[in-house]
Amino acid sequence: MAARRILLIIGGGIAAYKAIELVRLLRKSGHIVRCVLTRAGEQFVTPLTLAALSENRVYTSLFDLKDEVEMGHIQLSREADLVVVAPATADLMAKMANGIADDLATTLLLATDKPVLAAPAMNVRMWLHAATQRNVATLRGDGVTVMAPDEGEMACGEYGPGRLPEPAAIKAAIDKALTAPAILSGQPDFAPANHRPLHGRRILITAGPTHEPIDPVRYIANRSSGKQGFAIAAAAVEAGAEVLLVAGPVPLPTPPGVVRVDVETAREMATEVEAGLPVDAAIMVAAVADWRAADTSSQKIKKDSSGQVPPLALAENPDILASVAKSAQRPPLLVGFAAETNDVLTHAQAKLDRKGCDWIVANDVAADPMGGETNQVHIVSKNGVHSWDRLPKEVVARKLMEKIADELDARIPSQSD
Ligand code: C5P
Repeated sequence: MAARRILLIIGGGIAAYKAIELVRLLRKSGHIVRCVLTRAGEQFVTPLTLAALSENRVYTSLFDLKDEVEMGHIQLSREADLVVVAPATADLMAKMANGIADDLATTLLLATDKPVLAAPAMNVRMWLHAATQRNVATLRGDGVTVMAPDEGEMACGEYGPGRLPEPAAIKAAIDKALTAPAILSGQPDFAPANHRPLHGRRILITAGPTHEPIDPVRYIANRSSGKQGFAIAAAAVEAGAEVLLVAGPVPLPTPPGVVRVDVETAREMATEVEAGLPVDAAIMVAAVADWRAADTSSQKIKKDSSGQVPPLALAENPDILASVAKSAQRPPLLVGFAAETNDVLTHAQAKLDRKGCDWIVANDVAADPMGGETNQVHIVSKNGVHSWDRLPKEVVARKLMEKIADELDARIPSQSD
């Protein structure tokens, strides 16, 4: 995972010593860590230890930042990709839940526009208290990820839930939070719920490879991972669209809210795509196999000792994108993808004409083999070429959805507007 910036707020509790190990694990993964210690936290760990391990200045007081020249509190709260509170004491969570900002840590938590992860630690009775449970529910409702505390023997001798999760578990929760689309795109997690630019739109997406059987155990395929197409389906749902995803064989989970139909072959994909029309936009991301075996054997083709290689005759698969472009139900916006290893833009331009689609999203797979986490794309249309930087596939997906929403608004004003 690429290095990310983490603001770690350490509350006051005996478990604060585990924050030291957490800083070490985060640094080992290459993350940039800035620590903030509450006044109570300072009773358990020293700023010096944290500064040495984080290799960064440690902040303890709002007044450290008072001249606001070197680093203002707003900047400190926002320059991070993720804010982590560990240990999150009952007192800290109560303040967070109620918007109290009476020291540096709570001021940063109120001022941040970044996702927040809290790892609670407190006495079992304090954790189970109705007030704490109410605060946890409020925080979760506000979008804060509150981890469940570990259960076990406590420093105070009692037994039950309330122990700080182990540093490795907090690190795993941090890694998970850091791969959320909101973080990858640098967007605040609380984008207004009513920002649904594709609300009322129906979008069909194809993704993944196709498998073309030769016999019951062998097939022709390509290296498509399906990641970009699945990310686009997720981003389309996030943007409010109704999404049908026709997926070739890939072991990816279905993004929440997406209707998924699994297919094996190009011909099955063509049938499901046709059945899915009409739609407002179709985005054909699948790397459909161009050819299939002309004859499939119902039994495994056996190798014998003759040294003779069995002939493999190929037949051309239907071009799904080109036939949707020609169909009576052609969507108002039809987008194709093109993976090229050379002369990317020239090939993309030719493909735009040949396939009869509105845009070709072209990417150079020589620079980044299929299956990677990032993509650099060029959007080729009759109006020219838009090239984006190399970005995580989730970010490409979100940007593409914004562009599609704008284009649809221009072509067919939404019924719900
Ligand atoms: O011709 P090529 O495979 O490079 O074209 C890529 C675009 O065409 C992609 O959008 C892909 O989903 C679509 N395609 C298709 N049916 C095929 C081959 C490609 O829909 N048989």
